[in-house]
Amino acid sequence: MRGLTHMNTLTSSPPSFARVNLQTFGCQMNEYDSELVGSILKERGFAFTADESAADVILFNTCAVRETAHTRIYARLDALLHEKKARPELVVGVLGCMSQNLKEDLLLRFPAVDLICGPDAYRQLPDLVDRARNLRERGTAVELSEYETYDDIAPTRVEGVNAWIAIMRGCDNFCTFCVVPYTRGRERSRDAEGIVAETRVLASQGYKQVTLLGQNVNSYRHGDTAFADLMAAVGKAPGIERVRFTSPHPKDFPVKLLEVIAADDHLCKHIHLPLQAGSDRILKKMNRGYTSDEFLRLVEQIRTLIPSVALTTDIICGFPTETDAEFVETEQVMRAVEFDSAFIFKYSERVGTIAAKLWNDDIPETVRSERVTRLVGRQREISLRRHRAMIGSTLRVLIEGESRKRAGEWKSRTDGNAIVVFADPSRRIGDFCDVRITEATPNTLRGIVVGSRAGKPVG
Ligand code: 5AD
Ligand code: SF4
Repeated sequence: MRGLTHMNTLTSSPPSFARVNLQTFGCQMNEYDSELVGSILKERGFAFTADESAADVILFNTCAVRETAHTRIYARLDALLHEKKARPELVVGVLGCMSQNLKEDLLLRFPAVDLICGPDAYRQLPDLVDRARNLRERGTAVELSEYETYDDIAPTRVEGVNAWIAIMRGCDNFCTFCVVPYTRGRERSRDAEGIVAETRVLASQGYKQVTLLGQNVNSYRHGDTAFADLMAAVGKAPGIERVRFTSPHPKDFPVKLLEVIAADDHLCKHIHLPLQAGSDRILKKMNRGYTSDEFLRLVEQIRTLIPSVALTTDIICGFPTETDAEFVETEQVMRAVEFDSAFIFKYSERVGTIAAKLWNDDIPETVRSERVTRLVGRQREISLRRHRAMIGSTLRVLIEGESRKRAGEWKSRTDGNAIVVFADPSRRIGDFCDVRITEATPNTLRGIVVGSRAGKPVG
């Protein structure tokens, strides 16, 4: 484990000696939060196990963005009720956005659950677990905070090439479909000096890449420091080779930010630019704050200032009242932009959101599915075309790990975040290689190494 800073609120309690199995669902911010939870629990003496059956405490760090995320957890919680009959001392907890969203309802609906702890309440987690274990008390901690950034806690990071750094938390945008402003509260940013210092430490520990995280990452502001200033400073941190960020909102891309990204080779030329919809009426109902024309102009500006940029996006199909013609407008924007890749979702009504309060969830499931299938097909064609255009070129990639699909091959990424698979036993994780692209599918490129730069040891 990497260095822990002290947590005054926790150190006074006696140590706990239970083994915790922590499972993470959802976005990168949840991955990062699980690393924070790892540190908070280790500080109190808890140990961790990857084996659920060997654990005294099972914790699910959950997502609430779509109903599918809920359904998976419900099934696990029902199954654990049987497990608890055999092992009554087992403690089960739900963390993250689902616990914040459903609060005490989770305790009422799922007898297997002993504790729930929201994303701003993780400092209370050791006490909740101890009370559940020692006193058999069920507990909740779901207060949202306007200040909590956990900036004094060093996450217990997974060894590898990439380290996540949460630079801000929460979201003030209130897109009408989105539950995040309710589960993660108001926007707040960490101070820039701490983030840059952390980046330097991570580089000295062997990480090659940092990914700056936030629900609305480019709204980052601390004092006079805006996101563009922070990116410029992080890019200069010695030893870090690649800087990424996710997830941004199209409203916060000043020219200065684009110029900063263009000017520094360490700042990856990849921008995730969530479109969500192509119809101006739907965009307005979603409260996205831009029209399709404005979005297209932003794309043009980004491509002018950063010609090699890779653009990816998120799209929602079947938002309430979306007509066939309006859906076609989304398809048209997709075709006009030609994103490198896209995440395409079926609209999923979330309790408590503005859309759920104002409009009927009126698009039939079959229509939603058809629209998703159609856009996924379009995007596959576009991705394949863009990938094929890379055949014959030589791209610099960073080896992230072994390919899960093909034994003996490396999985690496280009600066633009495309996956490149290749075989070369003389290379290792953390190496940069120049790979000539020989084959392309919609999701992956394959190639052969034509040159390399060894990485420093990782971990
Ligand atoms: N239904 C479907 N997709 C959603 N997203 C957020 N909320 C919903 C919802 N209620 C998608 C958006 C967002 C991504 C992270 O998840 O596209 O950008
Ligand atoms: Fe949700 Fe919109 Fe905030 Fe993203 S910007 S987290 S979609 S409310």
